[in-house]
Amino acid sequence: SIAYVNGAFLPLGEARVSILDRGFQFADGVYEVIPVYGGRPFRLDAHLRRLERSLNEIRMSPPMDREALGERIRELITRNGGSDCQQVYLQVTRGEAPRNHPFPREVHPTVVMTCSPVPPVPAEWVQDGVSVITAEDIRWARCDIKSIALLPNVMMRQKAADAGAYEALWVHEGAVQEGAASNVFAVYGGQAVTPPDGPRVLPGITRDVVLELAEERGLPVSTGSIAASDLARAEEIWLTSSTKEVLPVTRLDGEPVGDGRPGPLFRSVLDAYRARIG
Ligand code: PDD
Repeated sequence: SIAYVNGAFLPLGEARVSILDRGFQFADGVYEVIPVYGGRPFRLDAHLRRLERSLNEIRMSPPMDREALGERIRELITRNGGSDCQQVYLQVTRGEAPRNHPFPREVHPTVVMTCSPVPPVPAEWVQDGVSVITAEDIRWARCDIKSIALLPNVMMRQKAADAGAYEALWVHEGAVQEGAASNVFAVYGGQAVTPPDGPRVLPGITRDVVLELAEERGLPVSTGSIAASDLARAEEIWLTSSTKEVLPVTRLDGEPVGDGRPGPLFRSVLDAYRARIG
């Protein structure tokens, strides 16, 4: 496939970044994962706005304006065969400089983009649901920034995988925050809630699409906190992310969720989501 590195389009195997890049040295950077359907990036503007917000929070200026970056993304997709590209990974780091923690004076951001196919979500994940575990939130207090520092997420998703689960849900001070790579919804009395924006929640684009669709269709979905002690009695639990869309969770820490089957509100939300991307 073709990658983008600082203005150049080149074969992935030839794409290079310096080992002095601050992304490599300090995880001093931010990223986005943008889903692509039929060669068209989905919710591109929302992803680019969130990228600008992440950059602003780490005191970086955008490397170029949203329109220019959007053009580069579309060109990358075209160079990768259009519909063969199903997701764009975009990373911006503070750039290359001798290793020293404070910001370097003279530095140019590193902008890297890749395209990749996305394996289809297995039909049985949607039909039967996936398993999750809960875990104490060992991340930092700025999870609203889409930082490339993902070691806690990597460790916890491996722990989930070791337990035969798909995802881990972070619990901070008794409240469920989000998954290690997804947002979370829980249903009580037929009403779905997802934790509101805060320092331990990424403002997920897919989550926002679900909230927007629910509003349009009059489905009972809103923001609200989820107590970890209430999670086991949820009628339904769902996960959302750009690459997995909406997934039903039917096992929580080894126990069934609700009746152990994906629920009716999940179905309505997934149908609405699929209609929107289609
Ligand atoms: N992860 N929360 C976290 C911690 C995430 O890493 C992600 C996405 C989400 C969902 O956000 P969105 O709907 O905007 O994709 C929530 C991406 C897909 C990843 O790291 O691969």
